[in-house]
Amino acid sequence: MWKRPFILLIIGVYLLGTSVFLPGCSVYPVNSEKTGEIKYLIGMSQANLGEPWRVVMNEEIKKEAARHEGAKVIFTDAGQSSQKQISDVEKLLGLGIDLLIISPNEAEPLTPIIRKAYKKVPVIILDRDIISDDYTMFIGANNKLIGQKAGIYAAQLLGQKGGNIVEISGLPGSLPAQERSEGFKNEIKGHPNIVIVKTLVADWLRDNAENTFRTYLRNHSDIDLVYAHNDPMALGAYRAAMAAEKKDIQFVGIDGLPGKNGGLELVEKSILQGTFTYPTGGREAVQYALKILQNKDVPKRLTLESKKITK
Ligand code: FRU
Repeated sequence: MWKRPFILLIIGVYLLGTSVFLPGCSVYPVNSEKTGEIKYLIGMSQANLGEPWRVVMNEEIKKEAARHEGAKVIFTDAGQSSQKQISDVEKLLGLGIDLLIISPNEAEPLTPIIRKAYKKVPVIILDRDIISDDYTMFIGANNKLIGQKAGIYAAQLLGQKGGNIVEISGLPGSLPAQERSEGFKNEIKGHPNIVIVKTLVADWLRDNAENTFRTYLRNHSDIDLVYAHNDPMALGAYRAAMAAEKKDIQFVGIDGLPGKNGGLELVEKSILQGTFTYPTGGREAVQYALKILQNKDVPKRLTLESKKITK
């Protein structure tokens, strides 16, 4: 393991008590052992760090890794570019990682590089699935089920009268967006008095949702509920509705993060009627990574629980 030249660089930088940015990589010292040997070098390829949920995921990984002597994590941030994420994975493999954790930006473009990585090191896929079984383990919640539960809840909020729903979609190439839509639509099909009048695409981003919903509202007034694939987009849509003085629309999101503008606070403030927690799996990813590296058996898939949050 000491043959890896970059590890020496990382340790050197670590001992200086700082962090460096290799091209495309941010290297965090995640272990409090200053002189400890790096036994397990884990690469973590993040889809983007522009969204609070992903910042929480990285924090969880950092925190959990710090609890295990000899474990180091190198993080990369693809900035929502699948092309960048492909080269991030190449770089991580070049650094001699022992295991790759990846939360893919999109399924299709990332599948080939993940298959390539899996030929060299164990791979844990986090949260967003790929189109292949070529990985060691998948950790994430069941997005189709969350979509279905959101549909049941939306129908309950609309009651006997029913109504019109606008769906705001995450990045269409990411499987959670497809699955959250599918689960929701299947459920709504069983309610003839409810119509999904439009699906707007906002790629998971709050400001995109605000802009696209603001434009939509100019020509469409008869909307009773917004189902957004995550809480930031639900918040964006809410802001657009407030600016257009549409006070009667109800909003449902997904993620349920604590903290400022997190889903829990949005529900507390009645900005959202409800949300569904979507655990990041960061802690579990490190725990299972170490099991894999110690040749212990792990399940192929670990499904994380989601909870409905209302006031
Ligand atoms: C963050 C995020 C979350 C969402 C998840 C789905 O990038 O958009 O808000 O729940 O990704 O993969």
